[in-house]
Amino acid sequence: MEIQQNISLKPYNTFGIQANAKRFVLVNSNKDLKEIIASEKDIFLLGGGSNILLINDVEKLVIHLNTKGIIVNDFDADTVLITAEAGENWHELVLWCVSQNYGGLENLALIPGNVGTSPIQNIGAYGVEIKDVFKQLEAIDIDTGKTKIFTNADCNFGYRNSVFKNELKGKYIITNVTFKLTKKNHKINISYGAIKDLLLNKENPTIKEIADAVIAIRQSKLPDPKKIGNSGSFFKNPVITSNLFKELTKKYPEIPHYVISENEIKIPAGWLIEQCGFKGKRFGDAGVHEKQALVLVNYNNASGKDIYGLAQKIQQKVMKIFKIALEIEVNVI
Ligand code: EPU
Repeated sequence: MEIQQNISLKPYNTFGIQANAKRFVLVNSNKDLKEIIASEKDIFLLGGGSNILLINDVEKLVIHLNTKGIIVNDFDADTVLITAEAGENWHELVLWCVSQNYGGLENLALIPGNVGTSPIQNIGAYGVEIKDVFKQLEAIDIDTGKTKIFTNADCNFGYRNSVFKNELKGKYIITNVTFKLTKKNHKINISYGAIKDLLLNKENPTIKEIADAVIAIRQSKLPDPKKIGNSGSFFKNPVITSNLFKELTKKYPEIPHYVISENEIKIPAGWLIEQCGFKGKRFGDAGVHEKQALVLVNYNNASGKDIYGLAQKIQQKVMKIFKIALEIEVNVI
């Protein structure tokens, strides 16, 4: 294991932002990881780099976790436990599960990033979140070096949220994640309109057909980070009170929304941003994606500060017009 100096993080973040790591180490095993954290405490863990916006060089030691491996254990006649190491690519894991006819992850195809970071923000798309199939994870306590198992309840999952974004932020390194998937009698979810449409309302699609539909939908709406730098949804979809919602419907009777509870209504941030006139707009090399206003993009050489400045401009306008505070979903470093 070699600690390198002044390494560009541009290839390591899907936004394609140039920022340097003062010190950088590639870690291929959990043994090496434990060794490093025994001597280094001021660390920054980098997985797939798909949910970060780098606005400064990183002074901490950047640990790029690249551990690989997938283990399959039978659970019962219908279900299987799949344990994947943190450095496994998320989409490749989904494709592999689909190829083995293990059901549960197919709606989450093509989400960028690695397995180890997937529980931190409880990744989700098209009616499924990983909490729905999550069994447990193993994580190393950075202070003590000891391994701890977190069950589903321990993770305290919420919408794009978990204990690792809150009280345990920066305290643990997730080393592997176990999912409970189906071998047969798959519990499919095709509630999302566009999936249903693509499957032509077929009643019992295979999980491969669902994954293919999800891939087609994402490719049609979301920019491919290999071509245009981005970090998926930049903001969370805000939840507003029913009073504010009623007030807004007077002016915007068509406002798209999902009712969460009697007093909580979720509004798509992409819609709010589009109404404010930002969709498809470009400011230098920082922009708002032309097909999904929730996604900010780096056309080439935008800095993290350029993207962040655009995000603030959007937040201010959404606040002014709708009285809604948009919360940034990606981690600003
Ligand atoms: N909309 C617009 N304009 C836009 C974008 C969206 O008007 O530019 C409105 C449309 O009315 C549309 C509605 O927003 O019907 C919802 O849009 P979409 O189905 O694309 O979903 P979203 O709420 O914008 C969320 C997730 C996505 C996930 C999709 C599908 C968040 C923050 N984002 O987006 O997640 O793929 O649902 O489930 O919850 C990600 O986290 O990186 C991500 C892409």
